[in-house]
Amino acid sequence: MEWSSLPKVELGKDMEGRILALPVSKDKGIIRKLWGTAPLEDDFFEKNKARIIESEHKIIVAVGVKDDSKQEARKFGAIAYRFIERALGPVKFHLIPDFLPEYEVIEGALLASYSFDKYKSRKDPKPWIVFHGSREAVEKAKVVAKAVFIARDIGNEPPNEHYPEKFAKMVLDLFADMPVNVFVGDENWIQEQGLNGVWYVGKGSVNKPRFVVIEYLPVENQKPVLLVGKGVAFDAGGVHLKPRGYLEDMKMDIMGGAVVVASLWALAKLGIKRNVVGIVPCVENMPDGGAMKPGDVIRMYNGKSVEIFDTDAEGRLILADALAWGERKYDPEFVVDFATLTGACIVALGRDIAGLFSTSDELAGKIEKAAVETGEEVWRLPLHSSIAKLLETPVADVRNVSDDYAGGAIQGAIFLSNFVTKPWAHLDIAGTGMSKKDKLLSRKGATGFGVRLAVKLITME
Ligand code: BES
Ligand code: ZN
Ligand code: ZN
Repeated sequence: MEWSSLPKVELGKDMEGRILALPVSKDKGIIRKLWGTAPLEDDFFEKNKARIIESEHKIIVAVGVKDDSKQEARKFGAIAYRFIERALGPVKFHLIPDFLPEYEVIEGALLASYSFDKYKSRKDPKPWIVFHGSREAVEKAKVVAKAVFIARDIGNEPPNEHYPEKFAKMVLDLFADMPVNVFVGDENWIQEQGLNGVWYVGKGSVNKPRFVVIEYLPVENQKPVLLVGKGVAFDAGGVHLKPRGYLEDMKMDIMGGAVVVASLWALAKLGIKRNVVGIVPCVENMPDGGAMKPGDVIRMYNGKSVEIFDTDAEGRLILADALAWGERKYDPEFVVDFATLTGACIVALGRDIAGLFSTSDELAGKIEKAAVETGEEVWRLPLHSSIAKLLETPVADVRNVSDDYAGGAIQGAIFLSNFVTKPWAHLDIAGTGMSKKDKLLSRKGATGFGVRLAVKLITME
C-alpha cells in the first residue's frame, strides 16, 4: 500500500530563516522580548490565535498559547503548520519551540500536516519544516507521526480497496523488512481453530475473514503485552442493516485494528525493548443469505455460548474470540483492546473522549496517565453488575446485547469481560477514532486516536 507521507523536515538553529513560527504567551516568548509588550488581545492566548508580524527581512507567524504545557506545544506546532499552509502555501518555514517542550511542537506540526489525497489527481504540495530542536526529537516524532498516518490511511482507504484479505496482505508488506513476525489465518484456519465469533460475523460477506497476528518479541523470557483491535473493514450491520446516515462512516470501523497495527509498527521502529503481540480479527459485516441471523447461538472459542440478539453488535463477537485466543496462546502480562464498539459511547462521552473500562485499577491508572501525556482523553466507566444482568438470556450463557439500549457502551465492555481473565482494559474509540470535521491535529475522517496512547503506555513502564 502507498502510505501518506510526512512533510520534509530539516534541522535549523538560532534566528536564521525568512519565515519563522514562534509561540507567545501572556508573559513569555522571544517576540515579547523583541517587540516589548506588543498589543496582543487577551483572547489571543486563550484562543490560540495566529498573526503575521512583518519586519524588514522576516515574516514572523506568532501563535498564542495559554501556557507551556505539552498540549499547548502540540497546538502551537499544529496551528503554525496549518496557518502557514493556508496563508503562505508550500514554503519552507522555521518552527521555533522557544519556551515550549520541543518534542510536542514537532509532533503537533507533523500530525496536522496529514491529508488523504492518494485518490486525488491533483496533490497540493506541503510546507517544509526547518525545526529548531534536537535531532532526537525529530526522529522520534517522525516515527510516531508516521504510525498515526498509517492508522489514518487504513481507516480512510475506501472499502472496495480494503477488505480482510487485502488488509492482511498490507500488514504482511508493512512488516516485511522488520524484526516482526506476522501470521495470517484464513477462513479455513479460523473455523478449524473454533474462532466461531470471527467466523459467524465474517461468513456473510464474499470477502471472507482473516485473523492477523503480529509478534514483536525483542526480549527473551518476558511475558508480552497483548493488544487487540476490532478490525471490521466494513460494518453494514449484517441482517440488522444500518440505515442511511449510519453506513457511510463504517469503512472506519477498522480503527481499533489500525491502532494495533500502527502502534506495533512504531514500537518496532523505535526499537523498544518490550515484548508486544497484536491481534486483529478482520471481517466485513454484511447482510447475505449466508449471514448470521438474530437468534443464532454460537459456541465461542472459550466454550461459552452466545445468543445473537443484534447482528450489528458484531465487534464484541470478533474481539471476544481474539481476546480468548490471545490469552491462551501468549499468556500475556496484561491485555488492552481498542474498538469502535458502540454508538452509545459517543452518546455518553462525545467525540473527543474515549471510554475506558478495566478489570484492573492499576492498568486503568496507567492508561489515564498515558492519556494525559499524549493529550488523547479517556474517561473511565464502570463494569457494573446491574448492567451485566441485562445480558442474561434463557437460551445461552450470554447474549451479545440487551433489548434495552441502557448503558450500551458498558454492555459492550461487560460482554467482552466474559472472555478475558488477565488484567484487561478496553478502549471504546467509536467517537474519537473517526471525526466528522477537521480538528486541530487531524482531518475529517480517521484520526488515529489511540496510537500515541498505546506507544506511551508501553514505553512508560
Ligand atoms: N461499529 C458500530 C459502532 C459505531 C457507531 C462506531 C457509530 C462508530 C460510530 C457497532 O458495531 C454497532 O453497530 N454498534 C451498535 C450496537 C447496538 C446494535 C447494540 C450501535 O452502537 O448502535
Ligand atoms: Zn455494528
Ligand atoms: Zn461495528
